[in-house]
Amino acid sequence: MKGALALTFMSAYAALLVGSAIAAVTWTATPFNPASVPLAVRTPYLSAWLPQGSGTALNAAWPTFWTGSILGWAGFVKVDGTTFNFLGVPNVAGVTFQKAVQKSAKFTSTQSIFVLSAGPVDLTVTFLSPVEPTDLVKQSLPFSYVSLSAASTDGRAHSVQLYTDISAEWVSGDNSLGVNWSTTTGSTLVHQVQLQNPARYTEINDHTQYGSAYYATTNRAGTTFQTGPDVTLRAQFVNNGKLLNTQDTNFRAISDNWPVFAFAHDLGSITGASTPVVISVGHARDPAVQYIIANNGRQDRSLFFFSQFATARDAIISFTNDFANALSRANAFDTKVQNDASKISADYAAIVALSIRQALGATEITISKNSDGSFNTNDVLVFMKEISSDGNTNTVDVIFPAWPVLLYTNPALGKFLLAGLFEYQATGQYPNKWSVHDLGAHYPQAIGHNDGNDEAMPVEESGNMLIMALSYTQKTGDTSLIAKYTSLLDQWTQFLITDSLIPANQISTDDFAGPLANQTNLAIKGIIGIKAMSQIASLLGDTARASNYSSIASSFVTRWQTLALSSDKKHLTLSYGNSASWGLSYNLYADKLLKTNLFPASIYQMQTAWYKTVAQPFGVPLDTRHTYTKSDWEIWTAGIMTDNAARDLFISSVRKWAADGLSSQPLGDWYETTNGNPQGFRARPVVGGHLALLIL
Ligand SMILES: *[C@@H]1O[C@H](CO)[C@@H](O)[C@H](O)[C@H]1NC(C)=O
Ligand SMILES: *[C@@H]1O[C@H](CO)[C@@H](O)[C@H](O)[C@H]1NC(C)=O
Ligand SMILES: *[C@@H]1O[C@H](CO)[C@@H](O)[C@H](O)[C@H]1NC(C)=O
Repeated sequence: MKGALALTFMSAYAALLVGSAIAAVTWTATPFNPASVPLAVRTPYLSAWLPQGSGTALNAAWPTFWTGSILGWAGFVKVDGTTFNFLGVPNVAGVTFQKAVQKSAKFTSTQSIFVLSAGPVDLTVTFLSPVEPTDLVKQSLPFSYVSLSAASTDGRAHSVQLYTDISAEWVSGDNSLGVNWSTTTGSTLVHQVQLQNPARYTEINDHTQYGSAYYATTNRAGTTFQTGPDVTLRAQFVNNGKLLNTQDTNFRAISDNWPVFAFAHDLGSITGASTPVVISVGHARDPAVQYIIANNGRQDRSLFFFSQFATARDAIISFTNDFANALSRANAFDTKVQNDASKISADYAAIVALSIRQALGATEITISKNSDGSFNTNDVLVFMKEISSDGNTNTVDVIFPAWPVLLYTNPALGKFLLAGLFEYQATGQYPNKWSVHDLGAHYPQAIGHNDGNDEAMPVEESGNMLIMALSYTQKTGDTSLIAKYTSLLDQWTQFLITDSLIPANQISTDDFAGPLANQTNLAIKGIIGIKAMSQIASLLGDTARASNYSSIASSFVTRWQTLALSSDKKHLTLSYGNSASWGLSYNLYADKLLKTNLFPASIYQMQTAWYKTVAQPFGVPLDTRHTYTKSDWEIWTAGIMTDNAARDLFISSVRKWAADGLSSQPLGDWYETTNGNPQGFRARPVVGGHLALLIL
């Protein structure tokens, strides 16, 4: 990961915050108001949020992409002829409407649910981003739902019409570019919009530059559609309560009279709650990822769902009509997560619920094609974008902190994420003896680093690969990964045997803190990596290697204890010999996860006592070089505490940060412990690490 880029975002937000008064929140928030609310978050390119800050209603800001750029998404409801705006902040010259009043906001692991009152009617707006990790077809669908349901609050009948649209901002990071579009009718209405000059595998400002955005709804009696300039369509609805079923064919730039893609739904007269109106939104591209194969070859990979659907349009039609089932699956998933996480605490359950969509929303599930052009569903690779820090593909030290969400939801996704890294390095094209840092400098390109000049984190990544390979195998009993890549795993172990007890001057995953020699926490990772290979060898029946590596790891722990403690023996140091230094020894978490029991109980007890003495208002700093910290490592460290008071100190600190309203960014993992200000990272998949306590 890299810090520099993200810092520029922070200054932009800091400026915004200085200039704006803190709004008073007038609605009920369950479990709390996050800085940004996930609306449609499923892939690196379908990532729409409500920048809520300290209290911005659904109709008080535009939805934004994770970067903060606007994604036009507007909504109106007409009640007995009076129009209320409930989504976005559209400005329609010449027509008047009111603002619906937000009464409540709630998030679960899969849904963000708003209730707004529009005169005598309450409108419930449910944004559902399915999390279906064990169904590769469904999990790979780059679509999300919004459902709208109106209910009379005074027992009387009211005439209700609904309107929503999206703009073409959903297809590019440059609004001056030309787009074209079409609408298909039938039992499902589908708007589709794309760039006139797409560029495969490229991004502008982190938005993909090829593929299409989709907006779809079931075509019932009273449903109308239209495409055209934003002000024209919105005025049409405000004045008439319906659309004209016409298409604008004057293709133009995204910002040239802002073409929008709209649906209206006449619910007629309602008394109780209406059946929900369901709309799907998404962005699909094909192929999705470019992947390096042997001899520096390139392979185009498609999202898994194409094995079941001829086109993305077919897929979104099926998705739209599956809403009722998708909602009940989502509710079951939400309940399971809530039950599991509540066993730790309510604060913990809230953090977990906010993290899951974000973590999985950085991933995509892909397949290759056979020589006859058919899809090969036996060749599954998952890709993850290192969102916000530098956009790398499958960064090992980003997959590693996110690992708990994969192990909890479906360990096979973890295997498919690691498989591309293993396969690439097994081709022999990567020249270094340690594990590669990532599969490509820019998502969605996974084209390797044949020059060996990737961001070097030798001990970090080698240890990470060994730990995750064993973790997957322990969890599933599937030895295929470790059997296939034994020689690579052993190569990295050899490296750790020579380089991890006394780690050379190098960076760890926390690269923004700079390089350092003899990092105590990095040595822990290396030693656990060696022990992991011992267990891998054991699982594969190589008892001689297993016992050799096991005794090496144990002897390293003994020697490490003479190097790693402060002179007063009150805490581990940040680096050997510097008694005044300390840091989060989050790498011990792997000793618990793998049940390797390498490090003595006294070390855990000592760290538990120590952290209670050095906590700041928003948690324990990452280390003594700065007062900032990482939320993922806070929760990992919570996992190694020997008492619940220390564990809960970490949990409540992260909860406090997530709810402090000092930014409007999707949940960030890097923040300041003294005052809860963001350090810049946002929307990163590493928040999957917040599930660490669910898998111990
Ligand atoms: C949009 O433009 C592309 C060429 O850039 C073309 O292939 C496609 O057919 C056009 N679609 C519509 C709906 O006009
Ligand atoms: C690292 O620690 C070892 C063991 O204490 C020591 O010999 C070596 O000089 C240290 N390296 C650095 C760069 O401080
Ligand atoms: C144990 O492994 C180390 C490192 O690979 C190697 O040098 C040593 O010869 C091995 N010992 C035995 C007994 O195999």
